[in-house]
Amino acid sequence: MSYTANSGRYDGMTYRRSGKSGLKLPVVSLGFWHNFGEDADFEVCTDIVTSAFDLGVTHFDLANNYGPPHGSAEETFGKIYKNNLVPYRDEIIISTKAGYGMWEGPYGDFGSKKYLTSSLDQSLRRMGLEYVDIFYHHRPDPETPVEETMDALAHAVRQGKALYVGLSNYSAEQAEKAVEVLRSMGVRCLIHQHKYSMMTRTPEDGLLDVLEENGVGAIAYSPLEQGILTNKYINGIPKDSRIASSSIFLTESSLTEAKMKAVTALNELAQSRNQTLAQLALSWVLREERSTSVIIGARTVAQMKDCVGAADNLTFTSDELSLIDGILASCRESR
Ligand SMILES: NC(=O)c1ccc[n+]([C@@H]2O[C@H](COP(=O)([O-])OP(=O)(O)OC[C@H]3O[C@@H](n4cnc5c(N)ncnc54)[C@H](OP(=O)(O)O)[C@@H]3O)[C@@H](O)[C@H]2O)c1
Repeated sequence: MSYTANSGRYDGMTYRRSGKSGLKLPVVSLGFWHNFGEDADFEVCTDIVTSAFDLGVTHFDLANNYGPPHGSAEETFGKIYKNNLVPYRDEIIISTKAGYGMWEGPYGDFGSKKYLTSSLDQSLRRMGLEYVDIFYHHRPDPETPVEETMDALAHAVRQGKALYVGLSNYSAEQAEKAVEVLRSMGVRCLIHQHKYSMMTRTPEDGLLDVLEENGVGAIAYSPLEQGILTNKYINGIPKDSRIASSSIFLTESSLTEAKMKAVTALNELAQSRNQTLAQLALSWVLREERSTSVIIGARTVAQMKDCVGAADNLTFTSDELSLIDGILASCRESR
């Protein structure tokens, strides 16, 4: 791999500003939840990351618990970074998170300042970084006062260990409060990360409005519903798929008759737009201009490239949008 000043890396990608901040993110970001753990093929992982960067995917999304086992996706990323990306540190955005159970005892879970501060130090060590670009609180904590958790995020910024901070999986009300608390500490909330797809439209019920009103960006995870919104399950369950690999997060029971009927109809619509179904699903999330980016998971370079191709066509006619609403009416998770 050789890089030049005019690599063309950024030409085909679209970048959107995260809320009212100065930071732009690629409309397609790469996530490390699956496919980068200890059991993943390191060469394939390297190829996915470096070819994504070559296509203008400048944002890599991690968390302390991604693997398996916990921490191993950060270690994989750290090795890839060291071997390939060190000279490009100023051209990439690396995020990590803390909020889910990570280590034994009372200080390895949820939202205390003790947990978040220690976890970020561990993440930096695993990735071999001096700082991350975005540090997220991964999920709201029903017990810790939000002031303490936001103080932990603000502390990370003041220490220079995170440039920006974000929230994930907060409700509209929780996000509004947390953003306000951060603001009172002199720290802006850069972005909120939530599940958003054609089948899961919960953020439309108030969260996107709160983010917009507060100048906070919105980044969607699992925009392909972990693979359901692709053509991969139309003719059965492929051996190398997430369902076949016995992931606890996606099981065969997710492929209901209603969903598969919708997927087949959406696949036809995608073809009429000269897109793959994965591209249609990503474009649909990005039709919402408040969506700063979608975070995709990719198991192969081909999947990653296919997803990046969504950036070529982000517009829909009103007839197409009504058709999609009709097709999905019977199988939405919510809304
Ligand atoms: N903040 C949070 O709480 C949270 C939660 C979940 C995820 N996330 C973030 O979001 C990222 C993405 O989540 P996700 O992996 O669920 O996303 P996703 O993009 O909805 O699903 C990824 C899976 O879809 C399949 N796929 C991807 N591209 C494809 C293509 N072009 N054609 C056919 N199949 C394709 C692959 O499944 P197969 O392996 O079956 O081929 C891939 O592993 C995570 O890595 C993480 O960074 C955050």
